[in-house]
Amino acid sequence: MKPQVLALLASPLPEGNTSKLLKKAIAGAEKAGCEVTLIDVPSLEFSSCREMYYCKEQGSCIMEDDMKKMYPLLKSMDSLIIATPVMTMGIPGHLKSFFDRCQVFYCAKYIRSDPLIPKEKRKSRKTLLLSISGMNLPNNFDGIKISTLAFCDILDCLLADELLIRDMDNKVDLDQYPDLLKEAFDKGFALGSALTKNS
Ligand SMILES: Cc1cc2nc3c(=O)[nH]c(=O)nc-3n(C[C@H](O)[C@H](O)[C@H](O)COP(=O)(O)O)c2cc1C
Repeated sequence: MKPQVLALLASPLPEGNTSKLLKKAIAGAEKAGCEVTLIDVPSLEFSSCREMYYCKEQGSCIMEDDMKKMYPLLKSMDSLIIATPVMTMGIPGHLKSFFDRCQVFYCAKYIRSDPLIPKEKRKSRKTLLLSISGMNLPNNFDGIKISTLAFCDILDCLLADELLIRDMDNKVDLDQYPDLLKEAFDKGFALGSALTKNS
């Protein structure tokens, strides 16, 4: 079986710049020999965390919605790609709610000391973060980074690489920037190669 990479798209625009970047990274990971499952986060139907804390004692969430299908994928994946635009200096609400619903993994790891991620996967899983901001401010990605680092920690999927693109309001269309698209491909390829050379 090929190594499994999960790719989270947080932009609501399937043909937008974030999606273009992610498609290149996916192509790179596939070229390296991985199988990639794309999750279009804005099209998932799920609620934000209601703090019912069923997950304090159980390795799952009590809420019955699309997140139920995500937990097995998040457990079994070998690596992760997150592609997100900056919104209000942080991650878009739907991706933030996706992260929050992963409190299931936090409780298992830090409250029950019984992680849901198999031991052999914990050491090797890596995350590639792709992000785009409209503006060109020094702290554009601070919010994205801090939330993503917390998410990667609870999932035992080390934030290992990133491609952060600023000033998209002026750049407008990533197709005009083949070097950036190639960089996304190369980073996807590197993420995938790290898995296939060990499998
Ligand atoms: C609701 C909303 C909030 C945004 N907030 C910010 C922001 O705080 N800082 C910034 O640099 N860009 C911000 N942007 C611009 C997006 O990051 C930028 O347009 C990005 O290219 C969108 O990627 P996409 O078209 O692939 O979804 C915002 C865009 C939207 C729609």
